[in-house]
Amino acid sequence: DWFMAEFIKDSVKSIKETVGDDQVILGLSGGVDSSVTAALINQAIGKQLTCIFVDTGLLRLNEGDKVMKLYHDNFDMNVIRVNAEDEFLDALKGVEEPEAKRKIIGKLFTDIFAREAKKFKNAKFLAQGTIYPDVIESSRQGSTSKVIKSHHNVGGLPEDLNFTLLEPLRELFKDEVRRVGLELGIPKNMIYRHPFPGPGLGIRVIGEVTKEKCDILRQADDIFISMLEERDLYDKVSQAFVTLLPVKTVGVMGDNRTYEYVCALRSVNTIDFMTATISHFEWSFLEEVVNRIINEVSGINRVTYDITSKPPGTIEWE
Ligand code: XMP
Repeated sequence: DWFMAEFIKDSVKSIKETVGDDQVILGLSGGVDSSVTAALINQAIGKQLTCIFVDTGLLRLNEGDKVMKLYHDNFDMNVIRVNAEDEFLDALKGVEEPEAKRKIIGKLFTDIFAREAKKFKNAKFLAQGTIYPDVIESSRQGSTSKVIKSHHNVGGLPEDLNFTLLEPLRELFKDEVRRVGLELGIPKNMIYRHPFPGPGLGIRVIGEVTKEKCDILRQADDIFISMLEERDLYDKVSQAFVTLLPVKTVGVMGDNRTYEYVCALRSVNTIDFMTATISHFEWSFLEEVVNRIINEVSGINRVTYDITSKPPGTIEWE
């Protein structure tokens, strides 16, 4: 990819000039934008960059370990993992309303990031994975726009932090960011992952969030996603996941009555995520997913497939 190779060469040069001998910190989420930003800056200044990865405990199965393995072990970056699961679960205790959960998660994320960032007294720069659509979006946000869901990407810049921003992807569109990522050696499956909301499983466990529910959901979600990958369906849909409902229903397993949670499979096809249609899977595929989830995940005894398009539904259930 000649064009992106040139972009990388130019960016590396300008990052080196800008940063000089100073230190840079970056909030790494594992998403495409922050990952590519990290890899690019790493290419330019290596160990002068420290990534702070706030593990909210609201991530997918083994996701935190995967992030550490790739960026810390493989890329040899400085990555500090902040295990904040207990803090997030405590803050979410008893909270059911989706927007309330989003606010709590967003605020706590910013606070924890700020707390960690302040430990780096020598850091002058804060790197962010801002891309061109974010720049347009924030310049467009009028006070009249009605909030249907407050889509804040967790990790906004805490106001009391005194850093200079470093945003090397500011002029790139998403597809260009992906090409840069591939060129920098980030694995394809990370680069082409479906989008994952900032609040994570916090809005996929419907109603009150608990560790038990997150653990159940992680297992079910992992089965659905790995079966999509096995059948070469993952890249044919735009976003797929499982949502856990706060409802228990009766079932039968062998000679026993069960009384466990219901989950919903969600999979959509879309170009811009503003409107979406459901993915038309073979029934036999869905049946296999359902059977695996019910047999392998203790805590779920009923699975539904959400066939609501957007609009009127949203992609996430909360
Ligand atoms: P909805 O549910 O609004 O989702 O149809 C559209 C896209 O946005 C993602 N999403 C979020 N992303 N913070 C995020 O960073 C959020 O609070 C949030 N809510 C929804 C959703 O996963 C889908 O890709």
